[in-house]
Amino acid sequence: ESYLEGEKPLPIPPILKDENPDPDKAEFNLVAQKGSMEFLEGKKTDTFGYNGDYLGPVIRVKKGEDVSIKIKNELGEATTVHWHGLEVDGEQDGGPHSGIQPGTTWNPKFTIEQPAATLWYHPHLIHKTGEHVYKGLAGLFIIDDEVTEKLDLPKDYGVNDIPLIVQDKQLDVNGQIDYNLSMHDVMMGLQGDTIMVNGAIDPYVEVPKGKVRLRLLNGSNARIYEFRLSNGQAFYQIGTDGGLLEKPVEMNKLVLSSGERAELIVDFSTFKEGETVELTDQGTPFMKFVVSDNKKSGPSEIPDRLAEISEVDPSTAVKTREFVMQGMGRNVSINGKQMDMDRIDEEIKLHDTEIWEISNEAMGMMGMNHGMAHPFHSHGTQFLILDRDGNPPPANEAGWKDTILVMPGEKVRVIATFNHKGLFMYHCHILEHEDYGMMGQFKVD
Ligand code: C2O
Ligand code: CU
Repeated sequence: ESYLEGEKPLPIPPILKDENPDPDKAEFNLVAQKGSMEFLEGKKTDTFGYNGDYLGPVIRVKKGEDVSIKIKNELGEATTVHWHGLEVDGEQDGGPHSGIQPGTTWNPKFTIEQPAATLWYHPHLIHKTGEHVYKGLAGLFIIDDEVTEKLDLPKDYGVNDIPLIVQDKQLDVNGQIDYNLSMHDVMMGLQGDTIMVNGAIDPYVEVPKGKVRLRLLNGSNARIYEFRLSNGQAFYQIGTDGGLLEKPVEMNKLVLSSGERAELIVDFSTFKEGETVELTDQGTPFMKFVVSDNKKSGPSEIPDRLAEISEVDPSTAVKTREFVMQGMGRNVSINGKQMDMDRIDEEIKLHDTEIWEISNEAMGMMGMNHGMAHPFHSHGTQFLILDRDGNPPPANEAGWKDTILVMPGEKVRVIATFNHKGLFMYHCHILEHEDYGMMGQFKVD
């Protein structure tokens, strides 16, 4: 297979072993540790990882399961682990107040109450999130449920159900990860010149002739991707951040901002053995699919009904709150305030449904529009988009979301019910903006 020579196979993150034999309970062990990778040939890169050198294993659980996770911190510095997209109480959420000191272990426990989805986990220490994620601390958190198990979707993990954690990196001449932020990085968020998938540069993955499910995570600090297939072929989006859509949505391109996930189905059934197609960002290829007869293929059709998404009636909302994302560089803020660990910005009553109006105030400076897009993320709940600038959301956003891209000058209204107690964050998911204070806290009580 000479065409693959010199290219790297896509690493597939392993599924973390559940140490509890009881099928209704899960027990996991994670160690946040230092590692070393060879991203560039002959050059060692110092990294961070969970249970390994870089990134982390997939935590895979079922709806209804009682989960306990022990996280030991062997990084030599404090960190936290946040379950991005998971609906749990504030105490278990892993935000900036749940610091894990070096050498100690944190043991959150929670029950999975939400539908099947592709979530993720990453550190959330105040002022340190960007650096920790950039060095490699991130992993997928997959929830399964009975409804989804009955659907005829590709479900052979690593064969026709493939996780893709997409990140960009800047490596210095010695191959080291360079997290010294320039003023430009602080302003725009850190964007590297090299795209990696599951920790590999320009990898290939063999796929069966047939339908393949891709679980995409934009795990980058700041970059917004515009994914397309190099042959222009359409694909179907079947899932958003918080679960499956009601029906597959045919698309030619997918925009995904930092923190967002999307589940796609790509059909390789008309490909010949050995034929390839690339995944591109703004037209630049960064990974390759190689069609192989030896891979077990999944179902030949995609179901046209996926999940039931019960609408939340806007008239049941007891309150409307406004969140205005403003500023540039060190002056980023939400509602004119920068993050203060000791200040609670919003108080919400447990089980209340609310409408949040999130807007991006584009600043006009020197006659120019200096606005940039900000991905807004809230902890503690999944939400539904009511409208974008008064228009219904595009079909591929008509599902559960926890992170939404808000364009300069745009206003997005979302609706959510807050069923978990405690202290939670909302913030821009450009991690340098988050670290510089584009974050606030709400308390559910
Ligand atoms: Cu993905 Cu508050 O984070
Ligand atoms: Cu931002």
